[in-house]
Amino acid sequence: MALKRKIQELQKRREEVLQGGGEKAVQKQVSMGKLTARERIVALLDKGSFNEYDMFVEHDARDFDMDKKTLYGDGVIVGTGTIHGRPVAIFAQDFTIAGGSLGLMHSRKITKIMDHALKMRMPLIGINDSGGARIQEGVNSLAGYGEIFYRNTLSSGVIPQISVILGPCAGGAVYSPALTDFVFVVDNISKMFITGPSVIKTVLGEDISMEDLGGARIHSTITGNAHFFAKNEKECFGQIQKLFSFIPWNNEEKPQKIASKPPKRDYKIEDIVPSDPKLPYDVRDVIKAVVDDSDFFEIMEGWALNLVIGFGRMGGRTVGFVANQPIFLAGVLDVDSSDKAARFIRYCDAFNIPIVTFVDLPGYLPGVDQEHAGVIRHGAKVLYAYSEATVPKMTVIIRKAYGGGYIAMSSRHLRADFVFAWPSAEIAVMGPEGAANIIFRKEISKAEDPEKMRKQKVKEYKDKFANPYVAAAKGYVDSVIEPCETRKLLLHALEVSENKEISVPKKKHGVPPF
Ligand code: HXC
Repeated sequence: MALKRKIQELQKRREEVLQGGGEKAVQKQVSMGKLTARERIVALLDKGSFNEYDMFVEHDARDFDMDKKTLYGDGVIVGTGTIHGRPVAIFAQDFTIAGGSLGLMHSRKITKIMDHALKMRMPLIGINDSGGARIQEGVNSLAGYGEIFYRNTLSSGVIPQISVILGPCAGGAVYSPALTDFVFVVDNISKMFITGPSVIKTVLGEDISMEDLGGARIHSTITGNAHFFAKNEKECFGQIQKLFSFIPWNNEEKPQKIASKPPKRDYKIEDIVPSDPKLPYDVRDVIKAVVDDSDFFEIMEGWALNLVIGFGRMGGRTVGFVANQPIFLAGVLDVDSSDKAARFIRYCDAFNIPIVTFVDLPGYLPGVDQEHAGVIRHGAKVLYAYSEATVPKMTVIIRKAYGGGYIAMSSRHLRADFVFAWPSAEIAVMGPEGAANIIFRKEISKAEDPEKMRKQKVKEYKDKFANPYVAAAKGYVDSVIEPCETRKLLLHALEVSENKEISVPKKKHGVPPF
């Protein structure tokens, strides 16, 4: 009987906690098109798999009347569950409780589950819906964020860390996501900023809406802080589940291999690339023509459009794709596309995912804007990331591979394992027009008909270098292949690279151009 009463008391305590911030706050949350924190976890994880811990944790703040306030579970829900039948750790901040703000005990719940995730070598998912450091708790909140950032860094490259932004997230609530591998945002719901509109008004006297300051679209198209954009929370959870189908659970594992499927017949690789090298094409069609089931899962599809990254499968194995996109800025490397490529390459390398690179670019983007924005430093990240990566690296040169772009895009010289080139490949220090203008300047200017001479010299240069055979003659390209042979050769390359092992000098870590 006594036990029965105690069970009833437990049930009553649980019910209290499940109220969150109360009916009114929950209604406000719902009216904004948002699920509650627990509903989000249930929607994301495998059905019935979630187990919650630390439900009865209470805050211990005393100042500013905090001692009179009950904040159930201190505004964050933590636990473990499964996705695709495999274990994950998760936390979800509850905006209905003190705006999901992070006090000391709130942070301790998060750091405890982070430690658990790292110890058990399972992914960590953070659903962020928080006004940042809890103002009433002062330095204790800052300490809490510091402890989270430290663990984000410690776990980086060991377990996947996924951040979902599902509310107005300020301060520390955006810095922790920025340290994680992938950030998901939802239209109209996600906001990310270091300082919110009210602080901006106070300090700078400027009026700006949360949406214009750091809405989902801003971070998916302008800042590059978000990797995936969804129309609503349901679509967002579907994207996360799909991402988990491609990646391994920790850095000691390889991604799970599934049954191979041929690409769809709609993508005919011979018909995608126009024969006129000046005409653009969508490189995603080339990727879809080689991946299983033509299923390409693009990452950051709204930002730095001149470069495409994402996951697909070949022969059932996960592959990371990096490709210049000729339909935007002719596929050049610039500050943003270099950042986009470099970080993804490092992710693939950390998590044992082979990289396939499709090359078609006239080089790095010239101009004062780029130079002053630090294209040297940012561009160097691509050189560093490819050179550093020890996973299998396969390169396919489709058309242009000029100058620094040729070297940077996973060339043999940065230790690509296989370099294939289509007959349409042009490998040279720069485009024929630019090259002829420089090295034949005197002949052109002295000629009776300079324009005719210029054309002749451009043709001369083109005949000499605008092909893959000079590089093939030196072994920089392993095979010149027909486009229709691309999938077959990549599949074979992946197969023979399965046990790739190379040694690098012993060091603590490098000093990349961050
Ligand atoms: C304590 C907070 C809070 C915070 C919100 N609340 N943020 N309480 N600390 N940081 C509370 C509000 O007082 C309110 O409580 C409830 O949460 C809902 O907030 P509203 O303002 O009514 O909601 P909304 O209008 O949607 O605005 C959300 C918001 C805004 C944009 C997040 O609340 C805001 O600007 N908050 C402050 C953001 C901020 O500057 N945080 C500190 C960052 S510094 P009641 O009781 O009225 O319902 C930081 C340090 C770490 O994080 C930096 C590391 C590098």
